[in-house]
Amino acid sequence: MDTPIEDVNDLGVFAQNGANAPAGEAGKGGRHRRRTASSSRPHVTVSDAPTAIPVVPKTPTVPAVDPIATTRTVTEPIARPENVTDPIPATTPNTDGDDHAFIEFDHVSKTYTMGETHIQALDDVNFRIDNGEFVIVVGASGAGKSTILNILGGMDTLTSGKVFVDGNEVSTYNDKQLVLYRRYDVGLVFQFYNLVQNLTARENVELATQVSRDPLDVDEVIDAVGLNDRKDNFPSQLSGGEQQRVAIARALAKNPKLLLCDEPTGALDYNTGKQILKLLQDYARRSKMTVIIITHNYALTSIGDKVVHVKNGHIESIELNAHPMNIADVEW
Ligand SMILES: Nc1ncnc2c1ncn2[C@@H]1O[C@H](COP(=O)(O)OP(=O)(O)OP(=O)(O)O)[C@@H](O)[C@H]1O
Ligand SMILES: [Mg+2]
Repeated sequence: MDTPIEDVNDLGVFAQNGANAPAGEAGKGGRHRRRTASSSRPHVTVSDAPTAIPVVPKTPTVPAVDPIATTRTVTEPIARPENVTDPIPATTPNTDGDDHAFIEFDHVSKTYTMGETHIQALDDVNFRIDNGEFVIVVGASGAGKSTILNILGGMDTLTSGKVFVDGNEVSTYNDKQLVLYRRYDVGLVFQFYNLVQNLTARENVELATQVSRDPLDVDEVIDAVGLNDRKDNFPSQLSGGEQQRVAIARALAKNPKLLLCDEPTGALDYNTGKQILKLLQDYARRSKMTVIIITHNYALTSIGDKVVHVKNGHIESIELNAHPMNIADVEW
């Protein structure tokens, strides 16, 4: 594949919302997190719950092998892009002198302009998220949830305001800084998967790990999402739910400090969806990864440390759950 590194890194992100230009020029703040060994993150499977967490009853997550699906044996490793060893960008401290939360949206507005039409997708959005928080973002269709996630993931620009992540003002990043930010800091599960169609499930996951500083084991993560038997299939040979799980495995395997999931269980049946959410919840708890999940399912608000309600481009309310429920105990 001769995809340039920016495209490889973004893994098709530009299909989403159609905008990816940077907001401006400024310095990359420091604190790029380097991990010394992948073993610093525990291997988590859907049935591998911490003892304090009730285990979800085991249910089959891997559909029977599709007899008409063809598979391809991968004999050649994917070529590692040559410029993945970019140095960590130079640190430029924030200029406003304020202490910022791990993630902070500060008066963020976003207007899409199409000819004479202006669509105010976000209007003065403010919220803060702490490191390691498991956050649920809920709201009706068109409320602005994906816009928030796309801006946070460095894939869309904002019209006004500021966005901080881990002490850095990402809303001022230039193109190069955004590429590095997306490559090393963010794992994204897209609402519409955005898998690379001419790569197998395993290759899609492997591709993401090749632009990570501290990736997880590809096969272990594929196994954790219940796709061990399907990993040599191309996306077109997978069901929607299987593709969604490839997308989740791809984001998790990067071992990012910030995992952004846009409707990660939208195509999954009840039990599989629950197991995937449990995987994400366990992973976040054990590894202190900050996870943000967009959903329409209000039952899931009980599992978040924080719940951000979005309505008509505004933050309607923000709730804190002192005792978030385990996903295994939530029914809907
Ligand atoms: N690229 C775009 N160009 C123009 N308008 C857009 C674009 N992307 C989103 N919008 C508009 O911005 C608003 C917010 O969209 P967004 O995708 O954030 O909603 P959402 O809350 O994720 O909805 P859903 O639950 O249906 O995915 C909507 O009115 C949408 O039509
Ligand atoms: Mg959306």
